[in-house]
Amino acid sequence: MIEIYKSSEDLARQEIDVLVPTMGALHAGHASLIKIARQKGKKVLVSIFINPLQFEDKQDLANYPKSLDSDLRLAEKAGADAVFIPTTEVIYPGIVTEVSAGKVGELYEGKSRPKHFNGVLTVVKRLFELTTPKMAIFGEKDFQQLFLIKQMVKELSLPVDVISAPTIRDENGLALSSRNIFLDQNQKKYAQVIFRALQKSSIEDMNQEILSEPNFRLDYLEVIDENTFHPADKSTLNKRAIIAGWINQVRLIDNMTVSAKS
Ligand code: PAF
Repeated sequence: MIEIYKSSEDLARQEIDVLVPTMGALHAGHASLIKIARQKGKKVLVSIFINPLQFEDKQDLANYPKSLDSDLRLAEKAGADAVFIPTTEVIYPGIVTEVSAGKVGELYEGKSRPKHFNGVLTVVKRLFELTTPKMAIFGEKDFQQLFLIKQMVKELSLPVDVISAPTIRDENGLALSSRNIFLDQNQKKYAQVIFRALQKSSIEDMNQEILSEPNFRLDYLEVIDENTFHPADKSTLNKRAIIAGWINQVRLIDNMTVSAKS
């Protein structure tokens, strides 16, 4: 049986090798993170905490999907040893010292969701403090989040190795996300435009592809330098196309590494 920890006392005697931080509503993308974690270390802990600090919209927070029973089954099946399900008081006792995501935290996702990344970094740092893992694993799907977490770990010299894991997609290329349950069959079809666009060989062609689907409302599309998160130029070695937008009220983000695009 999978173990369940709720407090810092429960965690005190535990030696955690790999932490898989999540907000629950687990799907095959999370299962793949847990399976990678399983190969990396002896004791794998999945945290489930819907972090209020990273939601700028109260309704979005209230609507965030919750499925604890199936989350526990999925985590156990994928190979987790334990699940950490803290309350808000456990994560944020008293005054919270917010971590700043800096300039990159204000770009792209951060522009549309002000303070979102400060909230993400604040909770991730708290989770690291409480669970003291040797490693922590994050998906590439949230590429800006991954970039900022790596930057925080470096800047604050946190004793955690950050491991990145590839995006898991459905059979039509749609990146798996807990928010996909809000899309009906037609909307899932519209959302396929994101994957099609990411496969084009220039940003102009990507934009063109996006325009072909009127049901997708683009927020941003950019090719960035993976090392700085600034727009890529001719000299950039590691480029990545990043994209975000909405189908109806559902926000979707995705990204893909690119070779000869500008
Ligand atoms: O990617 C997520 O699910 C969340 O942003 C994270 C990293 C668990 C922090 O709440």
